[in-house]
Amino acid sequence: MAIAKIIKDVLFTEEQIKRRVSEMVKRIDEDFRSKDLVVIAVLKGSVVFLADLVRGFTRPLAFDFIGVSSYGNSTSSPGLVTLEKGITVDVADKSVLVVDDILDTGRSLCFVKTHLQRFKPREIKICVLLEKKGTRIVDVEADYVGFEIPNVFVLGYGLDYEDRYRHLPYIASLREEYYNELRRKGIGPI
Ligand code: XMP
Repeated sequence: MAIAKIIKDVLFTEEQIKRRVSEMVKRIDEDFRSKDLVVIAVLKGSVVFLADLVRGFTRPLAFDFIGVSSYGNSTSSPGLVTLEKGITVDVADKSVLVVDDILDTGRSLCFVKTHLQRFKPREIKICVLLEKKGTRIVDVEADYVGFEIPNVFVLGYGLDYEDRYRHLPYIASLREEYYNELRRKGIGPI
């Protein structure tokens, strides 16, 4: 489907994202100074953000990916999260930074954090590009947040609609007329 047909508004331009990501890198770099840092990115939505984020660091670090699937991500369903891809990097006694695209209900990141704790890292911090306000079902907080957004469905810069549009260099909101399709699948705005 043509991009112009599904987009309502551009929320953050390429330039705004670039500026914010470099501010985040500066802060994280300082906080993790002299620590053994392992970045764990949650597939697939965080990949574009991860690529920009890690290239801003001037220190040595390792990164790896974790894959989770969320089903029925709404208030009315149990919201089952399952592991699709585990990590292969050693995080024992390391400082872990979990990177995700968006914090919504909190179920995915809560699952990821609990899963990673089994490998006995020294600490786990969470970094998300976007945080939706008022949608949390599970109590999990991000240590680093790029932008806060209202409860709208967004796409671009790694985020998808029907597995497409992740390549867009900006973040846009989806037109409401497509929300019913998302609700039918148990994802998207509650
Ligand atoms: P939870 O609810 O577990 O969700 O915090 C996090 C995951 O849900 C997906 N998600 C979205 N994906 N646009 C998207 O493309 C959105 O507005 C959106 N809201 C949630 C996403 O995969 C995220 O990691």
